[in-house]
Amino acid sequence: MIADVVVGLQYGDEGKGKITHHLCKTGGYSHVLRFNGGCNAGHTIFHEGKKFVTHHIPAGVFFGIKSIIGNGCVLDPEQFFREIKELEEGGINTKGMIYIAKNCHVITSEHKDEDGRDIKIGTTRRGNGPAYRDKYSRSGVMAKEIPELKPYLIDLYSEFHENKNEVKILCEGAQGFGLDIDWGDYPYVTSSHCLTAAVMLNAIPHTALRDVWGVAKAYETYVGAKNFELKNPVFTKIRKLGNEFGSTTGRPRQCGWLEAPFLKRSVKMNAVNKVVFNKMDILEQVDRWVVKRQKNKFEIFHNRNQFENYLEDILKKLGVEVVHFSDSPEQI
Ligand code: IMP
Ligand code: MG
Repeated sequence: MIADVVVGLQYGDEGKGKITHHLCKTGGYSHVLRFNGGCNAGHTIFHEGKKFVTHHIPAGVFFGIKSIIGNGCVLDPEQFFREIKELEEGGINTKGMIYIAKNCHVITSEHKDEDGRDIKIGTTRRGNGPAYRDKYSRSGVMAKEIPELKPYLIDLYSEFHENKNEVKILCEGAQGFGLDIDWGDYPYVTSSHCLTAAVMLNAIPHTALRDVWGVAKAYETYVGAKNFELKNPVFTKIRKLGNEFGSTTGRPRQCGWLEAPFLKRSVKMNAVNKVVFNKMDILEQVDRWVVKRQKNKFEIFHNRNQFENYLEDILKKLGVEVVHFSDSPEQI
């Protein structure tokens, strides 16, 4: 068994969808697995010139690869069926391609009502927090208890461990390190684990892990109730040029400079060996090259080259083998 992983190094919205889409196309995977989160996630994917936003369904579906929603996720059946419909209407064949771990927990309408009243955290109001709470308080509902989900159910143990054919899984993370329930800025976090460690709770042994792709943006964004953005008109510009508005909720994302210590921590704790920085084209347009070195201390570069060298140097020292700087929403 081989498992490659894609994780967010910041606060979600780093462009993981683009990387998983690219890897699905080129990586020869037998399965693509979502291992955490629910429909709070919004993965924007450009496939054959068409834009798709998926919330639950992994990117493997675009390439006829078995796509699984793992037991680390929570699933809203209404949203799930809506998404299947949208994919089909967009010309994507989903028949026999999409599976749900039978022990995945379900988001109910009560969960959505409750989360819909949130003002403290600034959640996506999709019912994720209450669904995870009920899972851990042992009063939750599992996918296997919902008749409409029967045709999609799968047992991850048999699928990954009893399969005679080669199993090569791409594990697609949702959200990012800064939103992790344990390692993010609690309580301004999501309710699941967003680190590589979470992969292994979905029937994948650590011995299977191969590459871990860490995805970041050339700057940072965060959506939620805490104050994140510094007063500087450049961030308004970045938000506009980068279209930094939530793909799930449409809310404006607060923007900031890339933080080096945070990046290091995130790379180390996720065991990342490959990094992609997205949205270089946006910094190119505002022509400001800045990295936060420590609290209130900023490294200001004259040009893109210096910015790239600085980040490459940090990452190479941490053992990262490959660093990409991406300029396009459609390609790495
Ligand atoms: P929840 O996951 O809906 O409970 O929201 C908790 C926090 O995580 C809020 O600040 C959300 O904006 C943020 N969040 C959850 N999912 C995503 C995502 O996919 N991208 C960016 N932020 C997210
Ligand atoms: Mg997103």
